[in-house]
Amino acid sequence: MRIIAIANQKGGCGKTTTAINLSACLSQLKKNVLLIDLDPQGHASLGLNIKPQELNRTMYDVLTPDPERKVRLDEVLIPISETLDLAPANIMLSAIEQELSGKPEREAKLSQVISLMVAKKTYDFIIIDCSPSLGLLTFNGLRAANELIAPVETGFFSLHGISRLLETTNLIDKELHYKIKVRALITMFDCRTKFSQEVKDEIYKYFSGNVFSTLIHMNVRLKEASSYGEPVITYDKRCRGAQDYLSLAKEVVQGYSSSPVETTAAPAVKQRNEPQTTQKKAVFMLRAPEAQSVEIAGDFNNWVATQESKLEKLNDGVWVKNFSLEPGRYQYKFIVDGQWVVDPNNPTTELDTSGNINSLMEIR
Ligand SMILES: Nc1ncnc2c1ncn2[C@@H]1O[C@H](COP(=O)(O)OP(=O)(O)OP(=O)(O)O)[C@@H](O)[C@H]1O
Ligand SMILES: [Mg+2]
Repeated sequence: MRIIAIANQKGGCGKTTTAINLSACLSQLKKNVLLIDLDPQGHASLGLNIKPQELNRTMYDVLTPDPERKVRLDEVLIPISETLDLAPANIMLSAIEQELSGKPEREAKLSQVISLMVAKKTYDFIIIDCSPSLGLLTFNGLRAANELIAPVETGFFSLHGISRLLETTNLIDKELHYKIKVRALITMFDCRTKFSQEVKDEIYKYFSGNVFSTLIHMNVRLKEASSYGEPVITYDKRCRGAQDYLSLAKEVVQGYSSSPVETTAAPAVKQRNEPQTTQKKAVFMLRAPEAQSVEIAGDFNNWVATQESKLEKLNDGVWVKNFSLEPGRYQYKFIVDGQWVVDPNNPTTELDTSGNINSLMEIR
């Protein structure tokens, strides 16, 4: 049985669309699939035409520590088709983080309930749709899974924040001594724009090539299908979205050929005498099509713009620079043709000691 978490704390990057449509396509390939909705928004449930607010039993009841309320995972399952079951969720699930706080093994609850269910009922695949927050619920999802699919949209700033997700999987690797296999999935790809192509190249670099060769293109049928409460493969099996997700399902069935992603964060198994690094990769991006030069200065380079701090211009007027940084809080600004500007895509700012407003990036 393969347990795959779909996670990325970037909101709206296609996690739920992937969870629903990958599950449905695996099921079409005659695999037995359980889709677990682990997001209090209940979007995976809604997208399969289940009204989560009307349900008496959901993932909340499975994960609650309250013995009066607790039920087994197999008691909440809703059959969607012959080979696809759903474990639904609704807003009640948001209470779980509070209820489990301070409880022993609180991050292993989902893993435990899956193990208990497997004694009675098994699946070829369990797909877990995680929420955009990287809290206890998502930690439970990652801990239960042996694989992670990180959908990354090819939009502006799409890689922002992904290092925290990879850091979490590294933490799990370190504590549990097994490596979660991580693969990125490029979503909402628009082949007409050079920008999509360039972000795609960045994603390949960032994930060291651990990226599905299937691309999920921008396709309005995917949005329509979910608003009708149907997977796209039954809504319109000929559309691009259906073909993409079918291709993804086939690629998933084939398994992994490349090694799991390593980040610059602490690796799971350290070699003896290997220098320890806790550095994380930070990606800075600015769209400035008219600019002749863009540099970055901040706490990480003592506010001195050098050759090293120049951003590289991609086509479509997007400027990019990667830095490897130790965890910490960093104020910074871009210097666009000599003018100091805050990062327009980062809403977090902070005053420096002279009262200037700077952008603030926190690396954990
Ligand atoms: N390939 C695509 N083409 C067009 N629209 C898409 C595509 N993938 C997802 N969408 C739409 O984008 C929106 C966000 O997608 P989705 O809900 O899957 O993201 P998410 O990562 O689960 O969001 P959240 O972080 O809130 O859980 C939805 O309206 C969905 O229908
Ligand atoms: Mg979602």
